[in-house]
Amino acid sequence: MKISRRMGRLGTETAFRVLAKAQALEAKGINVVHLEIGEPDFDTPANICTAAAEALSKGFTHYSNSQGIVPLRAEIAKDVERTHGFTVDPNRIVVTPGAKPIMFYTILALLEQGDEAIYPDPGFPIYESMIKFSGAKAIAIPLREELDFRLDLDELRSKITPRTKLIIINSPHNPTGGILEPDDIRSIAKLAQEHDITVLSDEVYEHIIYEGAALSITKIPGMLDRTILLNGFSKTYAMTGWRLGYGVMPAGLVDPVVGLIVNSVSCTATFIQRAGIEALTGPQDSIAKMVAEFRKRRDLIVDGLNAIPRISCRRPKGAFYVFPNIIKLGMSSSRLADYLLNEAGVAVLAGTDFGKHGEGYLRLSFANSQENIKKALQRIEAATAKLKP
Ligand SMILES: Cc1ncc(COP(=O)(O)O)c(C=O)c1O
Repeated sequence: MKISRRMGRLGTETAFRVLAKAQALEAKGINVVHLEIGEPDFDTPANICTAAAEALSKGFTHYSNSQGIVPLRAEIAKDVERTHGFTVDPNRIVVTPGAKPIMFYTILALLEQGDEAIYPDPGFPIYESMIKFSGAKAIAIPLREELDFRLDLDELRSKITPRTKLIIINSPHNPTGGILEPDDIRSIAKLAQEHDITVLSDEVYEHIIYEGAALSITKIPGMLDRTILLNGFSKTYAMTGWRLGYGVMPAGLVDPVVGLIVNSVSCTATFIQRAGIEALTGPQDSIAKMVAEFRKRRDLIVDGLNAIPRISCRRPKGAFYVFPNIIKLGMSSSRLADYLLNEAGVAVLAGTDFGKHGEGYLRLSFANSQENIKKALQRIEAATAKLKP
């Protein structure tokens, strides 16, 4: 079969491939500690599950409005007001099966051949993938450890050309756990306004913060009209498998994005949207409990990694990942990730799974129990001790 040439431009998310490799080892009876997948290991709070079951029994089993049911969009608008401090018209909110489709749809709706889009490297791999798939040129902005994985604003300025149409930011950040400083955000907003650039602000880790706060670029005057705020329920409410997310977008983008929804999934599952209303309106204490537990695991894994010779690891301010520096081990990131899986039974991702500037790093998710994290640290220490200095 002759597959279209455009498919050659589509990238992927390696976490799913590593998960499959790890599961193949497990099928052979080998014990693997999973630190590759980026999802909370907590159960979805019971009130949300009950709301979904009730919605099913009440017959919320039909197609819904392609943009998202009105009561959910109204609750999302209220939530955005609580967290961001401004009111937003629910007509500017589009609900999708997970937050990821907001990247897919808005990038396809905005970019075309001849356009350029700037994205963080290392960064969530779907940004680069979708920019390239759209036919636009993907311009990486490196995030460097020396800057605590923030971007260098002079470097960002130097990447902007008359063809730059989009800048993607993600704070708190996957895979480094970095958070952009308010001054960074203000400077990015200024550049976007000066050069008439749209911003995609990926805020899925908005609530998973251990130190400081993440300023949303949408709060800078004038920015809401040129920003797509991407968020969802996966990380905040441990609802990864439910697939529920949304975008708050400039009014002119809504119809094109809804057009792509109509042409692909028609709508987001109706009973899941009902459960989303419960997530936003029900008790919120599960978030603080989850973050408190993540904080303990963060400290455990950072201290543990720093105690291993030739590995150094910064303490992330948000999200649930660490991005340790492994340069002194003298092995490429991808070879080391394979080695740790095959020799030590620890599934991790290579920094390069998040872009070429991830070379020299690994990404470990600490969304796993303290017991498993301790086991993984012991295994990593023993396996890396065997590598020649
Ligand atoms: C930075 C970032 N954005 C978006 C997503 C996708 O979230 P969802 O599961 O809601 O599609 C992820 C998931 O890992 C992520 O890390």
